[in-house]
Amino acid sequence: MKFTDQIVFITGAGSGIGRATALAFTKAGARVAVADVNETSGRETVDLIQRAGGDALFVACNVADPVQIEAAVRQTVATYGRLDVGINNAGIGGAFARFTDQTPDDFNQMMAVNVGGVFYGMQHQIRQMLAQDRPGGAIVNVSSIAGIRGMPMGAPYSASKHAVIGLTKTAALEYVRQRIRVNAICPVYTHSAMVDDLINTAPGMEERMRRMIPLGRFGQPDDIAQAILWLCSDENSFYTGQALHMDGGLTAG
Ligand SMILES: NC(=O)c1ccc[n+]([C@@H]2O[C@H](COP(=O)([O-])OP(=O)(O)OC[C@H]3O[C@@H](n4cnc5c(N)ncnc54)[C@H](O)[C@@H]3O)[C@@H](O)[C@H]2O)c1
Repeated sequence: MKFTDQIVFITGAGSGIGRATALAFTKAGARVAVADVNETSGRETVDLIQRAGGDALFVACNVADPVQIEAAVRQTVATYGRLDVGINNAGIGGAFARFTDQTPDDFNQMMAVNVGGVFYGMQHQIRQMLAQDRPGGAIVNVSSIAGIRGMPMGAPYSASKHAVIGLTKTAALEYVRQRIRVNAICPVYTHSAMVDDLINTAPGMEERMRRMIPLGRFGQPDDIAQAILWLCSDENSFYTGQALHMDGGLTAG
């Protein structure tokens, strides 16, 4: 897959899946805006890319704030001239707690970051793609297997990830004629800071989680990154409005 000279904007690219995706796009020839609320880890991603010979820019951005997302997209376009791909990946895992113990603050924070971040991210990415001389582009929103199935002890997270799929399908239909393809990806447990937090909630948790996955292992960030590149590639021009399960076979049964 080649993305030579394409401009890619990735939220949450300071860690885990977002960082692996940023590295994979730059290896495939793209220039990448690394958008993250965490400046230290975001700049580390840029450093890793530059040391590997790639081109990347850090843009500070809290995705829950529409003003910050707009400014981050503008800064990307001011630096690189256009936008071809948007990856709305930033997310939080929230409290691991029963439905009745979840608090209004946790619920609202989850919706602000995991749903608001994708909604505002897509709004500003699509506005930019429509304004360009060659309209078109690709967007991938990072949902989860918890966006397909219920997740005991994670009601706000599961609700937020179901919402991501609704936003994805709707935007895909609205902008299909302008050749903007919009898809979601639904990873199962994938090694990252977020999953380490979950593993550490109880002894034996990692093994119990692993046993749920038919392929017998967690995903690696690069497994998800390669699927995201495939979703965005020009060779994949007939695929839009879908939620791709990257789950080691979990939802096949
Ligand atoms: N790791 C998994 O098992 C798994 C499974 C399914 C879905 N996901 C989803 O994948 C995405 C990436 O998660 P990850 O596992 O790489 O986690 P991670 O914690 O390693 O990375 C998340 C990144 O998002 C950034 N971020 C968090 N809140 C932000 C905000 N408000 N604004 C901007 N940046 C923000 C963090 O600073 C961090 O760099 C998330 O949307 C997550 O829900 C992860």
